[in-house]
Amino acid sequence: MDKLLQTKIGNLILKTPLLNASGVWCTTKKELEELLKADTGAVVFKTMTINPRQGNPKPRLYFEKNFSLNSMGLPNLGVDYYLSIVDDLKKFKKPLIASIAGFKEEEFYFLAEKINKSSFDAIEVNLSCPNLEGKGIFAYDLKKSVSILKNIKKKSSKLVGVKLPPYNQRGEIKELAERLVEIKVDFVTLINSLPLGMEIDWQKESFVIKPNLGIGGLGGKVIKPLALAQVYLFNYFSQGKLTIIGVGGVNKGEDVYQYILAGASAVGLGTSILNQGLKIFKKINQQLAKIFKEKKVNNLKEKIGQIKQL
Ligand code: DHB
Repeated sequence: MDKLLQTKIGNLILKTPLLNASGVWCTTKKELEELLKADTGAVVFKTMTINPRQGNPKPRLYFEKNFSLNSMGLPNLGVDYYLSIVDDLKKFKKPLIASIAGFKEEEFYFLAEKINKSSFDAIEVNLSCPNLEGKGIFAYDLKKSVSILKNIKKKSSKLVGVKLPPYNQRGEIKELAERLVEIKVDFVTLINSLPLGMEIDWQKESFVIKPNLGIGGLGGKVIKPLALAQVYLFNYFSQGKLTIIGVGGVNKGEDVYQYILAGASAVGLGTSILNQGLKIFKKINQQLAKIFKEKKVNNLKEKIGQIKQL
């Protein structure tokens, strides 16, 4: 592929704007290698915690064409495992992004410090995991979120980004976008799954996933209009100063183009990988390149945030 699809997150160059959304296909070394061999521009690891975790009881993931529902409970092999494989994965010469989550503020700092000494290129601070029973979502406490990011950013030589959930009010987005610009967060990933989703198997008369009262994070096509608005508003209120990775219902080249117009520099794929496998990366890149040619777009950057008012 030529440079048509190239994009940047901070100083990192991505050959294509497509990443995996953290959580999907990125827990083991084998999965990460497969992602790195696919037509991805960068790869995000499964959110890691200090200690390995089994996660919630199964079934904990359900997906169909239009949506996915998950209550995984942060199953991961622990930060030390990911640190032990990251050097070898550098051979693929793609940006490697660590996703971290703590149960307390101090755990975020402990993890960020470990990543800082490694060969990861960036840290995505996951302040939006919806599946921790009894724990709220950090990102809905704006003050605490900004303080965590500020402290990590102060000490980090890596790019520092944040993964956020959807917000309901423009005022919250305005306030957060402005703070994130102030503390110079390098990228913002929008959005994590919607915290409270549910599906019922009417024949079995039961839930489709087991943990947490059958309720989990909702992703996929059904959340795209919501995610686009979040991307647009973060871009609008930051006056284009935030680098945004859009996530939510990306299935085809047109979806990527929409996210770019709304203000994203790259996009993450989640539910569409579950439904179609890793071949989807190549397919979407080809579709996007075709759209760029038809619309005479010379490079991706010139289209970021270029949505027209009606
Ligand atoms: C999990 C789900 C998320 O949406 C997330 O951001 C982190 C972890 C999970 O349940 O494993």
